[in-house]
Amino acid sequence: MTATAPTHPSVVPTEPPALLLDGITKTYRSKAGAVDALRGVTYHFLRGSFTAVMGPSGSGKSTLLQCAAGLDQPTNGTVVLGGVSLHGLNEVALTKLRRKEMGFVFQAYNLLPSLTVYDNVALPLRLTGRRPSRNDVRRVLEQVGLEGMAKRRPAELSGGQQQRVAIARALITEPSVFFADEPTGALDSGTSRQVLSLLREATDQAGQTVVMVTHDPVAAAYAERVLFLSDGLIAGHLDRGTPAQIASAMSSLER
Ligand SMILES: Nc1ncnc2c1ncn2[C@@H]1O[C@H](COP(=O)(O)OP(=O)(O)OP(=O)(O)O)[C@@H](O)[C@H]1O
Ligand SMILES: [Mg+2]
Repeated sequence: MTATAPTHPSVVPTEPPALLLDGITKTYRSKAGAVDALRGVTYHFLRGSFTAVMGPSGSGKSTLLQCAAGLDQPTNGTVVLGGVSLHGLNEVALTKLRRKEMGFVFQAYNLLPSLTVYDNVALPLRLTGRRPSRNDVRRVLEQVGLEGMAKRRPAELSGGQQQRVAIARALITEPSVFFADEPTGALDSGTSRQVLSLLREATDQAGQTVVMVTHDPVAAAYAERVLFLSDGLIAGHLDRGTPAQIASAMSSLER
């Protein structure tokens, strides 16, 4: 029997994007006035892609991530995740979708201090009403290199180890999209490499989609594409850039 070569899933043109941002604007209104944080962002994130989002401070990176993840509502425009429009979903449906389809890794690890590593990792499954199997928890802890640490509490771990717990916690639900905002912001370069490699593996081996905000050109070079934001708009992109090329593109944006 002859087997046909499988086509690469991320280049099949008919496949819907993992995440679609369609004409997203976001205006923050307060007593101090209105700030247009996003001014019309349209972008397709392909399934299995790893995209870094860069841009000067205040360019709208975190706002973009918050809106894309349904943690905040855009003023205009729609977000479509895996074919489901977030617009019009009520809070309950949105929370369900977020728990099932999205993983989050932030600079602050957001672990629960009173729970063990094991229970922190198992928590997202418990929240979706599934009973986490010991094997599932073991598997993701092994994946992030923390197999011996299941019984510790977050305070008994280094920053890098805590971030890896946060990644294990995001991996356990097998989300289709990972959102990461400065995931390596507080880590040394060696630990950053481990964390970034885990995100890279999520896309290469599991076909998950990663959207990562970062200021660090070395971190951004783990992504195949860097998307540059400037003043609430997409200012361009760079594919397969080296850290030096990414840094130089960034500095021309900041000029
Ligand atoms: N809750 C808020 N209320 C009012 N303005 C806000 C709010 N959050 C963000 N902004 C403003 O929106 C703009 C975009 O902010 P955002 O946090 O998305 O930037 P960023 O690119 O993530 O910056 P940084 O690199 O510093 O994290 C900024 O001008 C910021 O001051
Ligand atoms: Mg930010």
